[in-house]
Amino acid sequence: MNYSMPELISTKRDGGVLAPEELEWIIAEYTADRIPDYQLSAFLMAIIFQGLNGDELSAWTDAMLHSGDVLDLSSTSMPKVDKHSTGGVGDKISIPLAPLVTACGVAIPMMSGRGLGHTGGTVDKLESIPGFRTDLELDEFQDVLADVGCAMIRQTPAIAPLDGRLYALRDVTATVPSIPLISASIVSKKVAEGIEALVLDVKYGSGAFMRDPDRAVLLAETLVDLAESEGVRASALLTSMEQPLGCTVGNALEVREAVDCLRGEGPADLREVTLALAAECVVAAVPDATTAEVCSGLEAMLDDGRALARFAHLVERQGGDPDVTARTDLLPEAPLRVTWESPADGFVTRADAYEIGVAAVELGAGRRRIEDEVDPAVGVELFARRGMSVQRGEPVAEVHARTEGAAQAMILRLQAAYEFGEAPPEELPLVLRRVP
Ligand code: URA
Repeated sequence: MNYSMPELISTKRDGGVLAPEELEWIIAEYTADRIPDYQLSAFLMAIIFQGLNGDELSAWTDAMLHSGDVLDLSSTSMPKVDKHSTGGVGDKISIPLAPLVTACGVAIPMMSGRGLGHTGGTVDKLESIPGFRTDLELDEFQDVLADVGCAMIRQTPAIAPLDGRLYALRDVTATVPSIPLISASIVSKKVAEGIEALVLDVKYGSGAFMRDPDRAVLLAETLVDLAESEGVRASALLTSMEQPLGCTVGNALEVREAVDCLRGEGPADLREVTLALAAECVVAAVPDATTAEVCSGLEAMLDDGRALARFAHLVERQGGDPDVTARTDLLPEAPLRVTWESPADGFVTRADAYEIGVAAVELGAGRRRIEDEVDPAVGVELFARRGMSVQRGEPVAEVHARTEGAAQAMILRLQAAYEFGEAPPEELPLVLRRVP
């Protein structure tokens, strides 16, 4: 059956409902390069305004899922779970979480993305480890998974290939922040990994794609329902992205902080959210385990080095230098460090995740265009965080940069991202709630 793309676009634009076969046709024709980007962009923009109903969303997700292979991981006997974040700034959780969950006997076949917009990506962070390969072939991926219990790679063209194409198109056509489009993107590629359970870290706050907590709850509910309808057990935690997670933003700096977390050290917020999501993963895989029991076991694994040893094994199996887990000075370092000092006495009332994320991209830690290379060494360390009291002249942040000019530009942006006041700001919960 052949449809007219202008008619389908106008039906959606005017709030109409499309039949599953019409949506399948759009995906098939776009995959075969018979629908140009400009028509698909117009269609995506119509979805931004009009949404998709439940049947449309299932049809769109199914078509994306079947744009590639669905992995058969039955050769790995452990229960298989993955965690996915809707994207944040300073969000390095996947790096400590995967080895931690694996150390509990639960496999994590993790396929991650690169940075998108102002948000960072696990693949860019891992690639700052000398030698680390995220481009494993699927058979190598399965071997590492069977051997280590987790494997961390970039998306391959074999698995939900359409998501990668659509994602790049959405990034440059302002069509990312749509609940159905985000849900279909995440669920299609995660279900294709061959997992039994999925834990979603749905961010809200300034640095999240869904800033408003109510919209973030709606996204979490849509994601959970959609994953369950595809036969994957799912739950979500709503976590704050009002300020960056942890104290570092920038690829190698974030790996260093993730290693600190795996050593039982590092910032408390990173540890808290990592443990909460790791516990969700283990409980999802082992349904008769209780969250309290699981949490204390997970804490012990961070504190006694078992999770770190697992990470060292993973790094080695993926071609990286496992010594970075003992000596983080082996990670790339920027030639210049410039400190920004507090202009006032008082409390930090705002350390805006979005502004800091954009600033880090401008510094070179992320991409402005798809073809840009990221600089693994540059980034920022935040010493003063929301709610902390500071004295005038005390260091607030240290910029790791290639040139003095880049460092000064970053400091100007940090000045716009921070606000100081006489009273501490209202405390925000790190984990707002669970869905369901
Ligand atoms: N993360 C994804 O994987 N897809 C989206 O569309 C947005 C965030």
